[in-house]
Amino acid sequence: MTTTYEIFKAIAMKSSPISGDTLGRQFDMSRAAVFKHIEKLRSAGVQIDSSKAGYSYIPNDCLSVYTLAFNMEKLGLPLRCIVKICDSTNSEAKREALNCSSDFVIAAPLQTKGKGRINRGFESNLGGVYFSLCLHPYNMYPSDGLKSVLMCAVAVAKTLEKLGFEPSIKWPNDVYVNGKKICGILAESSICGEKIEYFIFGIGINVNNSFKGSLLEDVAISLFDIDGKTRTREAICAEVCVNLASLIDEYQAKGFENILAYYISKTCSIGRQVSTTIVDKKISGFAKGLTPEGFLILDSNGEEIIVHAGDVYAGD
Ligand code: BTN
Repeated sequence: MTTTYEIFKAIAMKSSPISGDTLGRQFDMSRAAVFKHIEKLRSAGVQIDSSKAGYSYIPNDCLSVYTLAFNMEKLGLPLRCIVKICDSTNSEAKREALNCSSDFVIAAPLQTKGKGRINRGFESNLGGVYFSLCLHPYNMYPSDGLKSVLMCAVAVAKTLEKLGFEPSIKWPNDVYVNGKKICGILAESSICGEKIEYFIFGIGINVNNSFKGSLLEDVAISLFDIDGKTRTREAICAEVCVNLASLIDEYQAKGFENILAYYISKTCSIGRQVSTTIVDKKISGFAKGLTPEGFLILDSNGEEIIVHAGDVYAGD
């Protein structure tokens, strides 16, 4: 990581202010050189206060590469982090993955061409957090695709639960709070031979943006819309990434059973009449449950139908 990041870490890890002199000695540079790094941090939005006693970090919501990397490291996943405004973090991650064989995360404060599932767009305005986590699992196969998508929804749901919300998951991977969509997930993968080379988990969470008064007000919601609080997006992004990486590890070590049980406890798609489209044909049925792989089982007038992909809507 860069010296600017190391200086940020030295300030952020101390509960009391740290002087320019001390930092200068620690990093073998002049106080003026330290100040240049402080200015770089401030121009990325990081709040560094200075007093007679020295510099202190005041956590804020700035979604900078420094604060994101710090949150990751604090949670035990020191991933390479990139933060930039881009067309789509999934597209950017695919470009990055061509030159990089290790895991990384790309986050954006806004996307100019956010991508949704089934060739739709994804509203990606300021205040939300849009990120793509690129993971290279050591032993996963294309047949694990749906499981990875469900794990991604579980990682988000666990994060929202920890924040005190009651998320529900619409099969396969839309996350809802209070009956409105709060998070969308677009998972993509690259296959090499028989195995998954890497996954790109694209996740958009409505955090500090608002849908009140917008055309999407009836269907979308943000955490801010629910309780009026502003949250640190880097902390939420880091928590989801850490949850997801550990779910993938858990899956590879112990299988899918416990993860699926959690998913089932959170999904709103089971035990009700739903409809979907399979190869241009509309199918309705009672959603009975999920197969061990996570496929949706419908009872359509006595006939059992397994839904492998697509969108599922409540009702006929
Ligand atoms: C959907 O709801 O249809 C899926 C939306 C996925 C949005 C996320 S935001 C981060 C990543 N980059 C994209 O362009 N899309 C995903």
